[in-house]
Amino acid sequence: MTELTVIVLAAGGGTRMKSKTPKVLHRIGGRSMIGHVLTAVGTLEPARVVTVVGHQRELVGPHVSELRPDAVLAVQEEQLGTGHAVRIALEALDVPPREGTVLIAYGDTPLLAGETLQAFAASHRAAGAAVSILSGIVANPHGYGRIVRDEAGVVQAIVEEKDASEEERAIREINSGILAFDAAFLLEAIGRIGNDNAKGEYYLTDAIGLARADDLTVAAHAVDDALQTEGANDRVQLAELGRELNRRIVTRWMQAGVTVMDPATTWIDADVVLAQDVTILPGTQLLGATVVAEDAVIGPDTTLEDCEIGAGARVVRTHGQLAVIGASATVGPFAYLRPGTELGAKGKIGTFVETKNAKIADGAKVPHLSYVGDAEIGEGTNIGAGTIFANYDGVNKHRTVVGKHARTGSNNTFVAPVTIGDGASTGGGTVVRRDVPAGALAVSGGPQRNLAGWVASRRAGTAQAEAAGAVPGEQSENGQGLGGDPGEQAES
Ligand code: UD1
Ligand code: CA
Repeated sequence: MTELTVIVLAAGGGTRMKSKTPKVLHRIGGRSMIGHVLTAVGTLEPARVVTVVGHQRELVGPHVSELRPDAVLAVQEEQLGTGHAVRIALEALDVPPREGTVLIAYGDTPLLAGETLQAFAASHRAAGAAVSILSGIVANPHGYGRIVRDEAGVVQAIVEEKDASEEERAIREINSGILAFDAAFLLEAIGRIGNDNAKGEYYLTDAIGLARADDLTVAAHAVDDALQTEGANDRVQLAELGRELNRRIVTRWMQAGVTVMDPATTWIDADVVLAQDVTILPGTQLLGATVVAEDAVIGPDTTLEDCEIGAGARVVRTHGQLAVIGASATVGPFAYLRPGTELGAKGKIGTFVETKNAKIADGAKVPHLSYVGDAEIGEGTNIGAGTIFANYDGVNKHRTVVGKHARTGSNNTFVAPVTIGDGASTGGGTVVRRDVPAGALAVSGGPQRNLAGWVASRRAGTAQAEAAGAVPGEQSENGQGLGGDPGEQAES
């Protein structure tokens, strides 16, 4: 196998994005545009990758280095054309490639697939060409370099839009921008490219004419899926390519055995991994490095970012980030899983429950209206409705530990740091400020007082008072209406 060098051009400004973010850093499918390109390039296992950076290189450079630490960054201060950019890239290498293939790609073509590059590189080598063009036939060739062939069909040159004659502009065969070079030819030809053209730029595409003048072979390899080489120049194109990328990803998962009820409202990032027989209901976004195991059902209306969902789990109307959900566990509807949430097998995080840094063991349940922060809940424990794990004292965060098979009452507050022992219970409305030993029942607050006749004396003439007098079955000890402090709610 011949040695491969890949040069990714990403020095351009991208003014039409109207953004403080450089064009190639705009994201679709959970990756930057240049991230998609580098992923496709990575499948070729190139010996070297050079990325040409210029505009906002203080942002583009570190991003590229993070994705591909071995990539060489070549700085192009002024964007004098694609030919100039490639010259800078070659100069940035300690040892320029003298043999093998040099592949040129752009940093803003997010739909580019590794297989397409592999097929292109293989056809370039098979043709023994000095240069190969990844070409396409498009309905509207405006703006592209046109591929000019002679009567025999042999490629002679690429003519840029601004330099093209009327006749050449009618050509619908275009240069996608992706080119493959014989390294020795490129090294020699790059210095011969001038800038005597309509734009005053150094056109890399002039290398085609130079190869032909030397009687070297120029090949064109047609890509049938033209969108793969399409760039996003503005946010309208970005959204269009984003939707198309998503359509492709969703289709791929359906083909792999995932049920997607509504592909149009299902968004799946490129790095998400789904097992067979996962079901995704409408309005669901699976983002980042989310992994979903077999038979899990996600949605409707659920967003999961960097989450791990166990086999057979059920996640309904939930927003989750960096959470791990066990096998056959249930989550939602209306749950908010924050980073550090871990729910064990067959556990439950129910309705209107927020969790953060919370380890909830196998079979443990937090079914209703609760906040669980900085906590550990043991196996088989049930947390009562409306429980707040008060983890923050205004300065520091503290942990709450609840043992296994505990039963805590409704409307509790656990004031951390506090521990509730194995098999313990707490009464409704308990504020737990001190540790509860294993097996104990904790209750807090004074004993209940019933102020007999309070309604009759303080709410005379109201429907409440009338009702209190009219229902003999609810009379208290001294024959008067059932009392209670104003505002106190019945315990569930
Ligand atoms: C280029 C091709 C054209 C092809 C088209 C496909 C040339 C001369 N023309 O035209 O044949 O049909 O792409 O989209 O190559 N860049 C740099 N430094 C520079 C100039 C460009 O890094 O000095 C980068 C840009 O950021 C961009 C890419 O190279 O990613 C293409 O540059 P652009 O100016 O858009 O080329 P086109 O005129 O579109
Ligand atoms: Ca362009």
